[in-house]
Amino acid sequence: MIDLPPEGPTAVCISASPEETRALGEVMGRHVGAGDLIALIGELGSGKTVFVAGLAAGLGVDPTAHVSSPTFTIMHRYLGRLPLYHIDLYRIETPEALATLGLEEYLEGDGVAAIEWAEHGVRMLPKERLTVRLRQTGLETRTVELVPAGDRYRTLLRRMTSDLAAATRLLA
Ligand SMILES: Nc1ncnc2c1ncn2[C@@H]1O[C@H](COP(=O)(O)OP(=O)(O)OP(=O)(O)O)[C@@H](O)[C@H]1O
Ligand SMILES: [Mg+2]
Repeated sequence: MIDLPPEGPTAVCISASPEETRALGEVMGRHVGAGDLIALIGELGSGKTVFVAGLAAGLGVDPTAHVSSPTFTIMHRYLGRLPLYHIDLYRIETPEALATLGLEEYLEGDGVAAIEWAEHGVRMLPKERLTVRLRQTGLETRTVELVPAGDRYRTLLRRMTSDLAAATRLLA
């Protein structure tokens, strides 16, 4: 296929604690705009929800709101300066199940969609997105790769770079 938006350049951050991962999410939350799609990929416990909690904070969501994986409800909505649609596709394993979710409503609309286990939605999610790939490298360490696909997300990532570097150790 040649209609895929070109990916990269990727930003790679090293997080040494949950607080740092949260801070990275918070930086992103300050920069995202309506219709943005943030696709989170990484194993169980890699920090996707911690990152989204930061994203919510950066969007100005009430700090007392508890952000948790919407594994059973599929979607949690939080209201900050924009709505945040926090979606978890962990339990979505078939194209049929994916099709019944009505995800279109949350994409390219009034808010920001942050989707955990986004790889379970490859068949229907827009190809233009900012992927956040988390890898556990130690008890408290994670690599956090930010991979933009499409010009919109390359621009977004460029605008965040210096803030990301201030929040953690930005390698590249
Ligand atoms: N550097 C780090 N960044 C993020 N989380 C960390 C870090 N170090 C330790 N942790 C811990 O790892 C766990 C990450 O949990 P989290 O719920 O965010 O994972 P998840 O990727 O959303 O998993 P799931 O796929 O089950 O939803 C938390 O308990 C957090 O305290
Ligand atoms: Mg989670």
